[in-house]
Parts: sequence; C-alpha cells; structure tokens
Amino acid sequence: MAPTPFELRLGFLASHGGSNLQAILDAITSGDLAAQAQVVISNNSASKSLERATSQGIPALHISSQTHGENLDQFLAQTLLDHKVNLLVLAGYMKKTGPAVLKNFPNHILNIHPALLPKFGGQGMYGMKVHQAVIQAKENTSGATIHLVNAEYDKGPILAQRKVPVLPTDTPETLQIKVLEQEHLLYPETLKKIASGEIDLEAY
Ligand code: GRF
Repeated sequence: MAPTPFELRLGFLASHGGSNLQAILDAITSGDLAAQAQVVISNNSASKSLERATSQGIPALHISSQTHGENLDQFLAQTLLDHKVNLLVLAGYMKKTGPAVLKNFPNHILNIHPALLPKFGGQGMYGMKVHQAVIQAKENTSGATIHLVNAEYDKGPILAQRKVPVLPTDTPETLQIKVLEQEHLLYPETLKKIASGEIDLEAY
C-alpha cells in the first residue's frame, strides 16, 4: 500500500533554549520540511523558545502550573486544539505530559531524548545527567532518540535514532554538543518521514 501523507500542523512544548525548535523552524523556512508551526508553548516565561517563535510570527504562550494551577493539563490540551495542532512536538520540555494532553493526541506526541533509549532514560535522566551516565558506563556509542510519548517517562515506542561515537577523550560536555548536533538533524528528518507517510503514526 502507498504511504499516506500527513499534513503536519505542529504544536511545540519547550522549557529552555529551544535549539531543537529552531532546527525544525529552519527546516520549515527553507522548504525542506512541509509543515505549519501553529503554536509554541513554554512553562518558562524566560524560555528562548518563546522569543524564537515570536520572531517568526508564531503564537508564543507561557502556560505553566503557576499560570493555570490544577487546570494546566486541560488548558494545555484545549489550547493545542484551539490552534488546530495535529502533532505535538516536545522539544526540551521538562514537565510530564498530563492525561488530558495524552488523551487528545494519542500516538501524536513526539519527544527527543539525548541518548539511545531504552538505555539512559526514565525519571531523573535529563540534560547533563544523561551524558555523565553514558561516560560513566563506558559506552562507546551514544546518540539521540525520538519516541512517542505515553504516560511513562521515555518509555513510548521508538521512532528513530542517530548515533555518535563516544571517544575516550569525551567529557559530558563534549558529548552533549555532539549529540545535540545529531538531534538537530534527527527531528526534521523524522518529521519529514511522518509527513510523507514513511513513518505511519497510526500504526503504533
Ligand atoms: C535536548 O538535549 C533534548 O534531547 C532534551 O532537552 C534538550 C533540549 O535542548 N529533551 P533545546 O532546548 O532544544 O536546545
């Protein structure tokens, strides 16, 4: 059967620098990735991701437990629906995805993790801690993983990975840089495969 193309209307959740967000926006701007960026949301009002979105005319919203308390999950889900999002991209989002968001986007939430899952994932495994653990375990390969998000941290089906060698001279800092470079390639290329139907999210 021929693959079914999927028209990407992306929503983003990001907490910090948003370099993955930027890599995806750049791929859209250059015409390499056929997608619409509908909205960028951050739990952190100072997140650079909000600036990045605003400078490209994309709606940028600060939504957090401080702004919305107990209604946060429901409000996030409604906001994404209001902006006609059909695929939610977590790009360095440091909060757990709640049941309302999960329920409204079944199999349509992606996350990127800076290691080769299922290794070096789970609660508490984020940022530099991941790279420290990889080096401590004397792995000779690390990389980045894109997976579907479910109710458990880093446990959803794996969609794509890119690898990097871990050299004896690597530190957590140098490894982070190498992995991040791969992340910036992996997110746009995976989204392209979803857009073309080569990766069929309905099949998961
Ligand atoms: C990335 O390393 C990603 O794997 C992890 O958070 C980091 C986000 O970086 N989930 P940025 O905000 O996209 O620059």
